[in-house]
Amino acid sequence: MDTLDNRYVIQARNLGIYYGDFKAVTDVNMDIERNKITAIIGPSGCGKSTLLRAFNRMNELVPGARAEGQVFFDGEDLYAKGVDPVEVRHRIGMVFQKPNPFPKSIYENIAWGARIHGFRGNMDKLVEHSLRQAALWDEVKDILHRSGLALSGGQQQRLCIARAIAVQPEVILMDEPASALDPIATLKIEELMQDLKKDYTIVIVTHNMQQAARVSDYTAMMMLVNDGSRAGTVIEFGETTKIFTRPSDKRTEDYVTGRFG
Ligand SMILES: Nc1ncnc2c1ncn2[C@@H]1O[C@H](COP(=O)(O)OP(=O)(O)O)[C@@H](O)[C@H]1O
Ligand SMILES: [Mg+2]
Repeated sequence: MDTLDNRYVIQARNLGIYYGDFKAVTDVNMDIERNKITAIIGPSGCGKSTLLRAFNRMNELVPGARAEGQVFFDGEDLYAKGVDPVEVRHRIGMVFQKPNPFPKSIYENIAWGARIHGFRGNMDKLVEHSLRQAALWDEVKDILHRSGLALSGGQQQRLCIARAIAVQPEVILMDEPASALDPIATLKIEELMQDLKKDYTIVIVTHNMQQAARVSDYTAMMMLVNDGSRAGTVIEFGETTKIFTRPSDKRTEDYVTGRFG
């Protein structure tokens, strides 16, 4: 990458993503700033999840999916030959819409992934540290050997965040992490994100514009391109306050003010 600017952890250049012959995302150029929260917003089906999954090569798990263009991570092309996608997903973790703890104990939910990724240190300490960082420790410290599935939805999502943190990623990608949660659990996740950005870079997809406005530093607005191809792209990207108060694109303005069409 020519701009070896340490300020940006992920940089997408002319990024396009296909499912077979269908181009779902086209022509994305954006820089994700370190230790900030970047939100990706836009109508359903415009490619938000697809774009997010391109940032840690998760789309490759879908048969027939492929990317064109480049995604630089700390200045290195993630899609270059010889880059191990498993290692990529270790350094760029992901939290999904529906909490998906393993059917194992709370403790093992964290220990298992850490062990797979080669962690050889003090596991009790890692489990405690990860749960503390995910603001879950106080609620579970006496039930560490109970099943992760026995927790509430909000607790399960924080457990999944703890599990992601335990392998010490640089970036955490979150795809609508609170959309299955009640308002109180949602607020907890939003507060947690503010704590986490001290140590991590967060990219969140959300269809909830109030949430994007509350939590994020930067916002990327996605829409289908206007050529009938059904591909989505980022039409506007900038500081969240600007996107929500003084957008430059009329379509962004219509979207954030709730005037569609
Ligand atoms: N696994 C897949 N196979 C084929 N097409 C897909 C797949 N996942 C998503 N798509 C298509 O890609 C487009 C973007 O989807 P998605 O990224 O899920 O949008 P969003 O997250 O903004 O709702 C949609 O047209 C969707 O139908
Ligand atoms: Mg989605």
